[in-house]
Amino acid sequence: CIDIAGLPRHTGLFTYDSGFAATASCKSAITYIDGDEGVLLYRGYPIEQLADQSSFVEVAYLLMHGELPSKDELADFDHKIAHHTMMHEAFKNFLGGFRHDAHPMAMLVGMLGSMASFYHNDLDYDDPDERRLAAIRLIAKVPTIAAACYRYSVGWPLRYPRNNVEYVERFLRMMYEVPSEPLVLNPVAAKALDLLFILHADHEQNASTSTVRLVGSTGANPYVCVASGVAALWGPAHGGANEAVLKMLDEIGDAKNVQSAVDRAKDKESGFRLMGFGHRVYKNFDPRAKIIREMCHKVLDELGVDDPLLEVAMRLEEVALKDDYFVERKLYPNVDFYSGIIYKALKIPTDMFTVMFAIARTAGWVAHWLEQQTDPEFRIGRPRQIYTGARTRDYVGIDRR
Ligand code: ACO
Repeated sequence: CIDIAGLPRHTGLFTYDSGFAATASCKSAITYIDGDEGVLLYRGYPIEQLADQSSFVEVAYLLMHGELPSKDELADFDHKIAHHTMMHEAFKNFLGGFRHDAHPMAMLVGMLGSMASFYHNDLDYDDPDERRLAAIRLIAKVPTIAAACYRYSVGWPLRYPRNNVEYVERFLRMMYEVPSEPLVLNPVAAKALDLLFILHADHEQNASTSTVRLVGSTGANPYVCVASGVAALWGPAHGGANEAVLKMLDEIGDAKNVQSAVDRAKDKESGFRLMGFGHRVYKNFDPRAKIIREMCHKVLDELGVDDPLLEVAMRLEEVALKDDYFVERKLYPNVDFYSGIIYKALKIPTDMFTVMFAIARTAGWVAHWLEQQTDPEFRIGRPRQIYTGARTRDYVGIDRR
């Protein structure tokens, strides 16, 4: 067996699959996607039904435990989350070390990594209760840390979590300056955010979840596993797309400029892609995008927001969906296409969009980490490569080079 560089290989046959487009890295019972039909199920439940009838906390329970909770189980789970929302006071010292204008995703990666230093020695990986406690701590504390990162970046004093309110309202109360900010108390705003969290909670082996699993496969502490997931999420080809979509819509500026943006996206030389379009797995409408699109109209109507970017987005969708380039490549709007417009209407700053995604996806990351820990086939993830470098050669001393 010879490698590309002509060197012998003694490890038998293995496959090359750039970007893992056709390679399963694990077995999982959490999320099912049928990309051709546009189907998404969490633990067997259609995303449409969960979006309509469930809540983010219930979905987090479902992802972690595999079944919907009873009333008592949900109350207990909710109580545990509320109990773990506080951050150790020493976290403030970490925050204080960041530049005042640091991107909140950069802060979130660092802050979550630092959690491992607070909760390392007390974690017994063999004890399922201990593992679940780590998962609950993460679901509980990520919104507190996220809001703290934002408040630090705008120079506001930190606000402690209120534990007698629901998950989404608790986060909104920590984010905004004025406690009576009408948005916090507006049920449509809270419902919209809860819905976005449900839709973003899990999506099987996407780049960030696979990263969490790869890091988890080494036996690393769960807090750094999730920190690595946040880092992977940040890129514009993944979770960072929601921020990129809004910037793109802003740049397009007016519905009359849409056609030229679409033409530019078709030109490979331009290096420009329509952000919020296309998906590795969905070759049909992303079912989450359909739900978000509907919610987007509702939120703007309810909050009385007349956002010209919505018109640009709708025109873009219309033009792209009729264009042969996008039709042939099955490039449809994905989950991030409309979410930014909702976040904007909720007065969430643009550089917090991917942080919002991270809050929701934490539920999926911890569910995958938990599943992995009890996998009978659990072993370290170790991809191979096709070596394309130099053949064996002799070292040349520096004075002879
Ligand atoms: N705009 C223009 N052309 C595109 C786009 C786009 N948004 N997406 C894909 N294409 C084209 C590619 O140039 C390629 O064309 P070719 O066959 O002529 O070479 C073809 O469609 C296939 O694209 P790939 O990059 O091979 O598809 P892949 O599955 O690797 O990438 C991805 C998927 C990263 C999502 C891609 O569609 C993209 O960059 N989209 C924009 C960013 C985005 O919205 N990301 C969010 C994804 S959802 C999420 O992570 C939550």
